[in-house]
Amino acid sequence: MNDGTVIGVIGAGAMGRGIAQIMATGGYRVVLVDTNEVALETALQAIATTLDKAIARNLMTPEDKTAALARITPELALESLASADLVIEAIVEQLEVKAGLFARLETICRNNTLFCTNTSSLSVTKIAAGLVHKSRLVGMHFFNPPHIMKLVEVIETPETPEDVITTVMQLARKIGKQPIRAKDRPGFVVNRCARPYYGEALCILEEGNFTAAQIDTALRSAGYRLGPFELIDLVGADINYAATLSVWEALERHPRYQPFDRLKQQVEAGKLGQKSGEGFTLPKVPVTELPPEAAASIVARIEATLINEAHFVEAEGTASRADIDQALLLGLNFPRGPFAMATGDKRNATIALLEELYHSAPDHLKERYTIAPNLTGSHHD
Ligand code: NAI
Repeated sequence: MNDGTVIGVIGAGAMGRGIAQIMATGGYRVVLVDTNEVALETALQAIATTLDKAIARNLMTPEDKTAALARITPELALESLASADLVIEAIVEQLEVKAGLFARLETICRNNTLFCTNTSSLSVTKIAAGLVHKSRLVGMHFFNPPHIMKLVEVIETPETPEDVITTVMQLARKIGKQPIRAKDRPGFVVNRCARPYYGEALCILEEGNFTAAQIDTALRSAGYRLGPFELIDLVGADINYAATLSVWEALERHPRYQPFDRLKQQVEAGKLGQKSGEGFTLPKVPVTELPPEAAASIVARIEATLINEAHFVEAEGTASRADIDQALLLGLNFPRGPFAMATGDKRNATIALLEELYHSAPDHLKERYTIAPNLTGSHHD
């Protein structure tokens, strides 16, 4: 990839426009395709507004902005991607639609054009299944908003050759991102490793001893920028529930991904969080202070399940320890990664706590606390 490289971006919605922007400010020529003309116009205006903010903060000059915008060509037809070197797709989250798009693209682009999908929940392998050259398609999973969030998950399928991963990782670094590498498993790294943050918090809430606001306060006092319930309210209970169901179904409905009733009820009641004005933590109510030991026990329990899940993800070969830690720091703004935490006394305490939770849990939830073999088996530090 060099300055003459042409990057195609398909879909000019929330994600596509951000990806087009960072590619253009990174010096690449961008062809931005959307079937909806209004979406294209809105995207270009939104990019210009974002760049104006960067100018106001002295992060770029007006000349940089003009040059970046001049590098973006909006187009309605897929055929305009004939000369693209790499194409990133950010259209609707539907397997058939994405697979069909890439199949068409294969008839338009050169054989060596790389294809990337920004899917957050679909199997990259399945999206590539209908292609003649399956090895050319990988996941390039950006986080919202793409111009702010540093993390990119680069997702490989069983067909992906090493040089394709290298090229996509290099591209991500060139536009100022920090890529991590992961195998094509449900939820990839962030959406999978984050499940216990919400799931265990919901489990504690359903036990009835603490309120959502108390659980959030406990996590915030331990350095987490937002508590689990504030995060659900920020992103939307419906989105969180859909992500939970998708990972739960894809991983054979294992109790570790249990969709708890309290979350489902929020969705059914339309209490979606910020977008509906009502949620787990909205409208805000005064929080009754928790004794420090109670707050610490909530944090220890949620961190134990985060540590355990991360070990399962590593054991499956989905990603390395360093990449999992990096993913949670950058993708979720966590104050520390699960592997950085799981050393010495904290690891021993985590194992003891998981054992205790296993024994006290009702039968249908016991398996949530089965300990990952590589957590107990790595007592060397
Ligand atoms: P969006 O709904 O804001 O934008 C989708 C755009 O794609 C629309 O402008 C639509 O007109 C266009 N489009 C749909 N079908 C098309 C086609 N066949 N050809 C060309 N354009 C087409 O969606 P958003 O939120 O930007 O998501 C896009 C993708 O990124 C999805 O796969 C989503 O799962 C993924 N993603 C979304 C994140 C988010 O927080 N919104 C985060 C990470 C990934």
